[in-house]
Order: sequence, then C-alpha cells, then structure tokens
Amino acid sequence: MGSGPERPSQALLRLVNGYQVTQALHVAAVLGIADLLTDGPRSSDDLAAAAGAHPDALYRLLRALASVDVLREEDGRLFALTPIGDGLRSDAPQSVAGWAAFVGEPYYWQAWGALLHGVRTGENAFQHVNGVDPWTLRAREPERSASFDRAMASVSRQVAAAVIAAYDFGRFGTIVDVGGGNGAFLAAVLAAHPSTRGVLFDQPHVVSGAGPLLVAAGVADRCETVSGSFFDAVPAGGDAYVLKAILHDWEDDDCLRILRTCRRAMPDGAALLAVERDLGAPNAAPESKFSDLNMLVAPGGRERSPEAYAALFAASGFRFVGFTPSGAPAGVFEGTAA
Ligand SMILES: C[S@@+](CC[C@H](N)C(=O)[O-])C[C@H]1O[C@@H](n2cnc3c(N)ncnc32)[C@H](O)[C@@H]1O
Repeated sequence: MGSGPERPSQALLRLVNGYQVTQALHVAAVLGIADLLTDGPRSSDDLAAAAGAHPDALYRLLRALASVDVLREEDGRLFALTPIGDGLRSDAPQSVAGWAAFVGEPYYWQAWGALLHGVRTGENAFQHVNGVDPWTLRAREPERSASFDRAMASVSRQVAAAVIAAYDFGRFGTIVDVGGGNGAFLAAVLAAHPSTRGVLFDQPHVVSGAGPLLVAAGVADRCETVSGSFFDAVPAGGDAYVLKAILHDWEDDDCLRILRTCRRAMPDGAALLAVERDLGAPNAAPESKFSDLNMLVAPGGRERSPEAYAALFAASGFRFVGFTPSGAPAGVFEGTAA
C-alpha cells in the first residue's frame, strides 16, 4: 500500500480486483492452510509439502494473503495466522472456512461469471451456466451438497449467537427448523435453551448429514430429524417455526407456497420466525445488497425489507408482529399464525 489517502481510482481498482482475494482465500481454505498453522508459524515449503501444493506457487499465494492481513510473513518464508486469518481454521469458533471453500467452487464461481447475462436478460445465471437450479444439482452431487451444508453452517455460526441473544427462543416448547440444513442454527438454539426441543426438517440428503453436528452440540437427545419438501408438508404441532435463510432463496410466489405449507402445520397462535437480513437503506448495508445479488445469481430469490416480509406474512395467514434486529447481519421477522 502507498502512503496517504486512497484516491477514488485506486479505491475503484481495489473493488474491481476483489475477485482475486476471493479466489486466493478459496484456495487457502481448500488446501487447509489455516488448519496447518494452528500450532504456530510454518515455512511455505513445509506447508506446500503438507498441503500437496507447488512450493513456489504456494509461497506466492501466501505472501499475497499476508499483504491483506490474513497471514503474517516472517523471516525465512515463515507464515503465521493473523486474527483475521484465524477464522479460516475449520474449528475456529466463528469459522468461515466452509464458506470460503464453497464460494470458489467452479460451478458456483461460474454462475457469478454469468451475472452479466442475468442482468441483461433477467434470467437466472446459475441455471444458465449449470442447466439446473442449485437444489437439483446438489441433490444429484453429494460432494457439492456437503460443501454447501458446511458453508451454511459457517454462515449460521456467524449470526447465531447474536440472534439468540436478541430474541427469546426459550419461551417455546418445540421449535421446528424448516429447511434447517445440517442443524447448526437449531443446535445453537437448543444448547442455549435446555428446556426446548427441536425438529430439524430439510431434504433427505441434507438431514441425513446432521447427526454428528447434533451430537457434538450435545442436543441430539432433544432433536428429531424429519425429511421432506417444504412445498408439500412440514412437521405439525410445533410452537415456533424457524425459516432461516429460506425465504430469501425464493421469489414471492414460492415464498407464499412455503409459508402456506407452514401455516397448515401450525396451531393457531404458533410463531413463524423468519431469520433473514433486512435489505437496509439505500447507500448502506453492503452485506445485504450483495447477498441480494447472490440470491439473483444462484437460487433466484431476493433480500427484502420488513415491509415486504409483512406483506408476505399477511398474504399467507400470519399477522406480522415485528422485526427484532440482532446487531449481526440477520434478525427475526416474527409472525403469528392468525
Ligand atoms: C440457504 S440454505 C439455509 C439452511 C439453514 N436454514 C441455515 O440458515 O443455515 C436453504 C436450505 O433449504 C433447503 N431446501 C431447499 N429446497 C427445499 C425443499 N423443497 N424442502 C425442504 N428444504 C429445502 C436446502 O436443503 C437448504 O438446507
């Protein structure tokens, strides 16, 4: 970095070249570099041997990551983790390793490469590139499905503590997590509130991978897993139904189908809790605005304002109660089965 304030053209160039950082982080995550540095600094040659990488090429990757404060380079081509890079360890408390490994996978990366097509035509970029929607592709390809589930668990861990601190899930007896992935969020809720019970609902190939995570969180004896499609039916009789990062995957018509399926399963007065981002004000909330673009590119959904969620709730048999922000980039849009 040069000295002095960044000129607008430099700032623009840094934004333009953001793809390079994403791909460098992806490669470091896939090679498990941060895990290899857990016990302290190691030389780049040592890391190359351990990770099965080309020594000179890996050194160039590592020094680039050290230039953006993910690693620190010491004398003798030794590398250490910085506080930022520590989050690339797979067992870091707020690990983003799963997300970093996922976003650079060719099938996903190439969908983002078709953003121009999507913006020109309004068509879904993922479908354009891969010929199917992401859910169909992952149902066919177990490795892609496992990688995505791990990525979502990464993202869930980023927000779970803040959402659980901001919203009282402890007042419910049975919490049904609809489209709950491998259970990272529900496990955190159940662990925080020992009097609650959980039902994890997702597609068969997804819930089948949830066991180890529920056991590790110490909640397996309070959590049932059920598989199916939220377009058909979800488990009945819960006190609260969580939809975390579900509605943003879909356009309004499909959201209404999902919400109506939930409503049919819910007793009057049960709570519908959509854990989602608030789209945010103009010129602000870049995480939400870029998540919205991610929804445009891949699943074909969108991020929404509280008003938009309130309208979806009203059209599907729920009274909108309000939005509880958490300080993290997700809060709880709450409805009551009317
Ligand atoms: C963006 S992920 C969110 C996962 C989890 N709720 C979280 O926040 O980490 C969307 C989830 O919806 C699930 N899903 C997609 N289509 C589904 C369907 N028809 N029925 C049930 N689950 C579905 C996926 O398997 C995936 O786990």
